[in-house]
Amino acid sequence: MSQANIYPPSADFVKQANVSGMEAYRALYQKAADKPEEFWGELAKEKLHWMEPFSHVFEWEPPFVKWFVGGKLNACYNCVDRHVGEGNGDKVALLFEGEPGDSRRITYSELLKDVSRFANGLLRLGIETGDRAIIYMPMIPEAVIAMLACARLGITHSVVFGGFSAEALKARIQDLGAKLVITADGGWRKGKEVKLKPAVDEALADCPSVTSVVVCERTKTPVPMVHGRDHYWQAVEAGQSEHCPAVPLDSEHPLFVLYTSGTTGKPKGILHTTGGYLLQCAMTVEWVFDLKKNDVYWCTADIGWVTGHSYVTYGPMALGATQVIYEGSPDTPGFDRWWAIVEKYKVSILYTSPTAIRALIRQGDHLPNAHNLSSLRLLGSVGEPINPAAWEWFYKVIGKERCPIVDTWWQTETGAMLIAPMPGAVPLKPGSGTLPIPGVMAEVVNLDGKPVGPNEEGYLIVSRPWPSMVRTIWGDPKRFEDQYWSRVPGKYFTGDAARRDEDGYFWVLGRVDDVLNVSGHRLSTMEVESALVRHPAVAEAAVVGKPHEITGQAVCCFITLKKGEYDHDVLSKELRQWIAHEIGAFARPEEIRFSEALPKTRSGKIMRRLLRELVTNNTVAGDVTTLEDLSVITKLAAQQDDES
Ligand code: WT7
Repeated sequence: MSQANIYPPSADFVKQANVSGMEAYRALYQKAADKPEEFWGELAKEKLHWMEPFSHVFEWEPPFVKWFVGGKLNACYNCVDRHVGEGNGDKVALLFEGEPGDSRRITYSELLKDVSRFANGLLRLGIETGDRAIIYMPMIPEAVIAMLACARLGITHSVVFGGFSAEALKARIQDLGAKLVITADGGWRKGKEVKLKPAVDEALADCPSVTSVVVCERTKTPVPMVHGRDHYWQAVEAGQSEHCPAVPLDSEHPLFVLYTSGTTGKPKGILHTTGGYLLQCAMTVEWVFDLKKNDVYWCTADIGWVTGHSYVTYGPMALGATQVIYEGSPDTPGFDRWWAIVEKYKVSILYTSPTAIRALIRQGDHLPNAHNLSSLRLLGSVGEPINPAAWEWFYKVIGKERCPIVDTWWQTETGAMLIAPMPGAVPLKPGSGTLPIPGVMAEVVNLDGKPVGPNEEGYLIVSRPWPSMVRTIWGDPKRFEDQYWSRVPGKYFTGDAARRDEDGYFWVLGRVDDVLNVSGHRLSTMEVESALVRHPAVAEAAVVGKPHEITGQAVCCFITLKKGEYDHDVLSKELRQWIAHEIGAFARPEEIRFSEALPKTRSGKIMRRLLRELVTNNTVAGDVTTLEDLSVITKLAAQQDDES
């Protein structure tokens, strides 16, 4: 290997690993490449419980794929019942830590009863297989129970992150035609109550499809209840049987839809189905997290994001893991909360994001150093490229140079990891997701779809379907085809740029489209722009990402105003609040700049590239030959100089 910073696995780690040594990884990869049907077919039979066997492994009619065709199974059964049936009912499934300091411990047997009672309650409300439910909840056990109860009955769920506004919630309920909303009074974050039910009430004013709302009491703040529509969680499960048969569902039954930002103003409903999704989630937990029976696993993601689906609810639970879930913020009551949790529950596998790591670095090493972190044996990172400084700190200060760091590249659309190291096999290089998961044919290509040479930058594409692949965009198969399958015809376009080094390692460089990555959360520039122009004072808006020390990128808005007198400071605050209301607090812009005009091409297109350059380098050196009015950009740059 040619590069200086290489971390091969330690002999001790290799000895105990689920996949030991490079040869073992290569053998898996080769088999999956040569005989994908045999490879995935055998794993599916071995790792999942099928109620009816599948007749063939996959059917590929680009861009649509089906996995484990004809097979019937139930994701909830696989994540819960099976472990109880195998005698592991007393094993702890969830170790819940509430932000105020309350805690709960739920075994697999208890979980089975909770899920069954709640599922029976949903049946009594008249919710049926094939219906859709929105889950809008804090990070509490009931959020996982709600997902599993839906999966048990074949109700397609769509979790909406609790940080989204009523407007965003409404758009998702409407697009999905949901019949049920499962929510809570609120949750705890930074010592304060984050209310959820009021946003549901606001959204439901325009959502005739919803017949029932279930409200879990978390904060116990009284909330208005609409008679006949709203029911408390406790009342829904009261008197219900602890037995509720898991419905045998087609392998391609829609398990969930998760909305994510695309390049337009309208979020995309990414559809995942059952068999293939569950298998790849489970396999990547086994391969990449090297999960063992006695591990205490903790993924810090909220269930509102895909990481919380694949690596809180479905992947780890399919393998019967014991895991921690934490409701609140890493800084409450102090910035050592996470380290206290690792110590308290003896966490052995910790999966988090570079943004969180960077925020914690700033607080100083004395915080982690004051806690016993010796239970940790593996660390993971996801959401954005991890910068070398963050990697080193995570490795040294948290992992004490003992724990491999698995940098996992994947997307809402990929459902599970596609590029990530098997830690007992693949030597690590900080900042690289290393090599693909078996069965994943990833390539870096140029505009014509031709592979580029080693260390050349290009587009990251995937040339064969994988089990946990997005099946379509809910209600919009045409957009699915255009977005992902037309850039290089017949191949999946990730939207990321990457290069592959001389050892075949992948280095993901970031998005090539108008999608921002703020704190590992995807945000479309168009979505923010269309929200801005809905404000009565705004004539035009252009949104670009600005490099940010903690969040990776930050939202930066350039705005031209309609005629009138404005106080820029007041308006700037108002617009930031406006975005929080229209999209959600996490999308709140870092910076708003007012301008008399925006730089445009002669054909009238806003040149975001120049604005990006401006916020990145404070000056514009790039090609401005198509710019209509050069003075616009010089004025914007001068404004920057005035401010700094
Ligand atoms: C985008 C997907 C995957 C779950 C969380 C985000 C970026 C994700 C990495 C990584 C470099 C990464 C990519 C990708 N990304 N993980 N390990 N290294 N970049 O899911 O919201 O669907 O975003 O996040 O740009 O396309 P998402």
